[in-house]
Amino acid sequence: MEKPDEKLGEGFLSSLNDFVPPWLDLRSTLSTGFFLLAGFIAALVVGWILFPMILYSKQPQPINFNHAVHIDEESGIEGETETEKCLYCHEFREDGSFAGIPKIDKCIECHDDPESSIGETLEEKEFLQNYVAEEKEVSWFSYYRQPDCVYFSHIAHVNMGKQECFVCHGDHGKSEKIPVYQQNRLTGYSINIWGKRLSGWKTNTWDRMKMDDCAECHTKTGHEENNACFVCHK
Ligand code: HEC
Ligand code: HEC
Ligand code: HEC
Ligand code: HEC
Ligand code: HEC
Repeated sequence: MEKPDEKLGEGFLSSLNDFVPPWLDLRSTLSTGFFLLAGFIAALVVGWILFPMILYSKQPQPINFNHAVHIDEESGIEGETETEKCLYCHEFREDGSFAGIPKIDKCIECHDDPESSIGETLEEKEFLQNYVAEEKEVSWFSYYRQPDCVYFSHIAHVNMGKQECFVCHGDHGKSEKIPVYQQNRLTGYSINIWGKRLSGWKTNTWDRMKMDDCAECHTKTGHEENNACFVCHK
């Protein structure tokens, strides 16, 4: 007795045969197709998974920094809004320039006694011993730093442009663990600039910050005047 699905398969092949020229052998074409597909998938694995692994070098940060505990009500950081809390550490200096990642002085405002920690964590004790006690700066890698040829000012975007931190930085300011720093071996750029997806596909405004992403927002917010080369490259 014939199995119904075999018959169905044969029937499908022969009905396909009606549509292809007689000199074409459908069976071998299909198997060629299979190898093409397998090759294509192998190329995708290399291109999307292996190549990025080789392209980026990974460097762990010197210590972890927990934004979440510092943004918490209990931490003692003042501020009506979330942005005000961020600006407690990432402040604007008198002249309007951005202080960036805070220096150890800022931390010592609260973590002032190397011998007694505020909380219970081992992480904090290590931080007190290795940095606070010696007033040593932590050498953070910056995820968002642009190449030197790019001019960017936070005060223009945060105060004048009224852009929230998360639009460009996502959830970094609320995270408990900071990610491993990944640097592109060819360009020296952080993975946060060119984006985590090689295709360039982005779902959020903060997935990457290339030239086009800067310009896209300028256009959207009606500030096309800032899309001339000399505005960002002085
Ligand atoms: C306004 C006060 C304040 C400032 C300023 C401050 N901290 Fe803290 N920090 C705290 C509090 C409160 C905790 C939470 C203690 C707890 O409950 O575990 C904490 C916890 C920590 C911990 C332990 C992390 C954890 O998961 O509990 C580390 C490490 C740390 N701080 C580093 C820093 C560094 C680095 C700076 C400077 C950039 C800094 N702190 C600035 C108040 C502060
Ligand atoms: C207690 C001080 C403190 C507060 C408050 C704070 N930060 Fe930070 N921030 C740090 C430190 C220290 C680092 C360096 C370690 C890291 O990358 O997380 C940092 C790094 C960052 C970075 C990465 C910059 C780079 O190029 O690597 C971003 C983005 C950031 N903070 C955003 C925020 C936002 C948004 C808020 C408010 C929601 C905030 N921070 C509040 C201390 C603080
Ligand atoms: C319009 C986009 C945008 C917004 C909004 C924005 N940033 Fe940034 N941020 C950037 C860019 C671009 C850089 C890299 C600047 C550079 O290389 O000169 C950066 C760098 C940083 C750094 C690292 C600076 C350093 O010296 O390494 C910190 C910290 C930071 N931003 C925190 C914040 C905080 C906190 C807010 C909200 C108050 C904020 N940013 C709002 C785009 C933005
Ligand atoms: C989320 C939106 C947004 C993104 C992303 C953005 N910008 Fe802007 N930018 C603005 C707005 C809005 C203004 C106008 C501010 C004003 O003058 O009111 C502006 C103004 C500027 C100016 C002129 C003001 C000044 O500081 O001289 C420069 C330069 C600039 N942006 C550079 C950049 C660069 C470089 C990037 C990418 C790394 C970038 N911007 C990304 C919204 C954005
Ligand atoms: C809105 C801001 C902005 C404008 C306008 C802009 N750029 Fe850029 N440019 C950037 C940023 C950010 C980068 C770094 C990220 C990247 O490579 O996309 C960059 C990178 C570059 C680089 C590569 C430099 C390197 O070291 O990798 C070149 C070349 C360049 N821009 C030329 C231009 C020219 C030419 C124009 C005018 C047609 C222009 N840019 C306009 C923001 C801008």
